[in-house]
Amino acid sequence: MPVATARYSKTLVVIHWVTALAVLGAWLTAEGGREVVRNPPLLHFWLGLAVLVLVVPRLILRLVEPAPDGAPQHGWLAIGAKIGHGLLYLLLIALPITGWYAASRMGVPVSFLGLHLPSIAAPVQGRPGLIAELHENGGTFILVLAGLHALMAIWHQFVLRDGALRRMSLR
Ligand code: HEM
Ligand code: HEM
Repeated sequence: MPVATARYSKTLVVIHWVTALAVLGAWLTAEGGREVVRNPPLLHFWLGLAVLVLVVPRLILRLVEPAPDGAPQHGWLAIGAKIGHGLLYLLLIALPITGWYAASRMGVPVSFLGLHLPSIAAPVQGRPGLIAELHENGGTFILVLAGLHALMAIWHQFVLRDGALRRMSLR
C-alpha cells in the first residue's frame, strides 16, 4: 500500500484537533434535565458553540482545497471513510444547533464571546421535547463515532503503515 506524504493544510489540521478537544470537552461538561435550568452548564454551551463556529471555515477550506493526494484507501474502506467523515461533519453542525434549540426550549439564555444569542424556540414548561432528546443521544453518538474513527486512523497508521496520521499532523 502506498505511503501518503501529502497533508491537510495547517489550518485544517489545527481546526481538526481543536474541534476534537472541544467535542470531548462539551461531552464531559454536558448536563441534562432540571439541573440545566437551575445551574446552566455555560462551559458546555461555550465549547459546543465553538465547534459550530469552527466548522464554518473548515468546510469552506475543504471546498476550496480538496483532500491531500494519495488517500491511503481503496474500495469499501474509502466508501466507509466517506460515510463516517460525512456523518461526523453532519453532527458537528447538528449538535450545536439542536443544543441551542434545547436551551431555548428550557428558557436558558445562551451567549458566546460576550454576544447574547437569540432564543431559537419558544420556551416550554416541562420536558424540552424530541429535538433535545436527539441532541442528548447525538452528543454521545458523536463520541462513539469519533472513537471508531480514531481506531481506524490508528489501524491505518500502525497496521497498514500507510502514514494516515501524518496526513492530519503539522509536521
Ligand atoms: C471528536 C473527535 C473527532 C472528530 C469530530 C473528527 C472529525 C474528522 C473529520 C470530519 C475528518 C475528515 C476530514 C476531511 O476530509 O475533511 C477527519 C479526518 C481525520 N481524522 Fe479525525 N476527528 C476526531 C478525532 C480524531 C482522532 C482522535 C484521531 C486520531 C487518533 C483522528 C484522526 C484523523 C485522521 C488521521 C484524519 C485524516 C483522514 C484522511 O486521511 O483523509 N481524528 N476527522
Ligand atoms: C459538539 C457539541 C455538543 C455535544 C457533544 C453535546 C453533548 C450533550 C450531551 C451528551 C448531553 C446530554 C447530557 C445528559 O443528559 O446528562 C447534552 C445536553 C444538553 N446540551 Fe449539549 N452538546 C453539544 C453542544 C451544545 C450547545 C452548543 C448547546 C447550547 C448552546 C447545548 C445545550 C445542551 C442542553 C440545553 C442540554 C440539556 C438537554 C436536556 O436536558 O433535554 N449543547 N449535550
